[in-house]
Amino acid sequence: MTRNFSLAEALDEAKQGYAAENPASAAQHERARAALPGGNTRTVLYYDPFPLAFARGEGAQLWDLDGHRYTDLLGEFTAGVAGHSNPAIRRAVIAALEGGINLGGHNTFEPRFAEAVRARFPAMEQLRFTNSGTEANLLAISTAIAVTGRQKILAFGGGYHGAVFTIGAPVNINAPFDWVVAPYNDTEAALALIDANADQLAAVILEPMLGGGGCIPAEPAFLHALRTATAQHGILLIFDEVMTSRLAPGGLGAAHGVQPDLMTLGKYVGGGMSFGAFGGRADLIARFDPSRPDALPHAGTFNNNVLTMAAGLTTLSEVFTPEAAAALNALGDSLRERLNAMCRDAAVPMQFTGRGSMLAVHMTAAPIRRPADAAVGNMAARDLFFFDMLRAGYWIARRGMMALSLPLTAADADGFAAAVAGFLTERGALLKG
Ligand SMILES: Cc1ncc(COP(=O)(O)O)c(C=O)c1O
Repeated sequence: MTRNFSLAEALDEAKQGYAAENPASAAQHERARAALPGGNTRTVLYYDPFPLAFARGEGAQLWDLDGHRYTDLLGEFTAGVAGHSNPAIRRAVIAALEGGINLGGHNTFEPRFAEAVRARFPAMEQLRFTNSGTEANLLAISTAIAVTGRQKILAFGGGYHGAVFTIGAPVNINAPFDWVVAPYNDTEAALALIDANADQLAAVILEPMLGGGGCIPAEPAFLHALRTATAQHGILLIFDEVMTSRLAPGGLGAAHGVQPDLMTLGKYVGGGMSFGAFGGRADLIARFDPSRPDALPHAGTFNNNVLTMAAGLTTLSEVFTPEAAAALNALGDSLRERLNAMCRDAAVPMQFTGRGSMLAVHMTAAPIRRPADAAVGNMAARDLFFFDMLRAGYWIARRGMMALSLPLTAADADGFAAAVAGFLTERGALLKG
């Protein structure tokens, strides 16, 4: 590695090394291409030359088809907070399976799981379950439209609320709501758009920290201003906490002291099974009470499926307790501070944003408040970081995102810090150049 490569050459060499090391993943990708376009059924997992395929996972470890072992720092994009083999969740799922799959009626888990969600997240006065975060947001937005009688939805560029909700992207297959798009963390611009559309806006929806958009936290003043303005105009404020609810015991909105009218959940809350939930103010969610003559309908074959209900109940009550969340977020905060100090000391244009157990790497040293600030980072350098971390045995998202999970130890954090130190030493000159 001492030869004087350009960044493009170094990336090319890293990709070639990756391809040579992973013939079984390459073969599976080739085979999958016949039935799945590009061998893919989940866009975020794709990267060139071909994505890794995994054989199994245990704790915070993963093994790919060619037998390489990785420390899992991605944690299934926040859904895998408990790791791959949590014994309590396994027991709960097996016990639920033994009671019969798909009972076609109410089961004993759903009210208890709903109580646990309600007890944990103060904004969730009442709630309903869905099968994904996408569906939860579809229902939350549709609820806002139904109860306000207004049509417009204000969302923020760089926000991601699910498969049909990539906000501000030039190409999208978004749900055909009447969108108004505002810049994230820009209070003045957002308030001006709210004012201009006040009597037509049903809801303002946002993540209290952009997750997929680069782990960019909302500034507290921005959240408070949105709360005040929406309340003034009778617009419902929706917090999409599909990712961020893990960042504080009651969710990230609660940590900021801002209570939305509606809130959505997903990912880890279902214990690793397909999951989503939307809920909020009791007077709004009560519209779904089927005994009411004006009830809003909300069907869904798998809304109360026993695997999710059982796994989710165990996760919230026994596994990802408020204490466990606090400890994991502290591990993430200390790791991020340590990595950022290393980048600063090496004077390499690279930083780790985020909060608690969610991190994202960006290849710029300038402050990042909005997605546009992150977009100036060198994408080839970020790709090189991804392939170098794989080679060092760390699984992260190609786009640089990480989400820590409970089985990770301080030694794992030390190991990753050492791998990042190696990257800074070996590649720092390329990144500066
Ligand atoms: C903030 C946010 N909302 C919603 C979703 C969609 O959740 P799902 O993938 O379960 O549909 C995601 C998924 O990444 C997300 O990050």
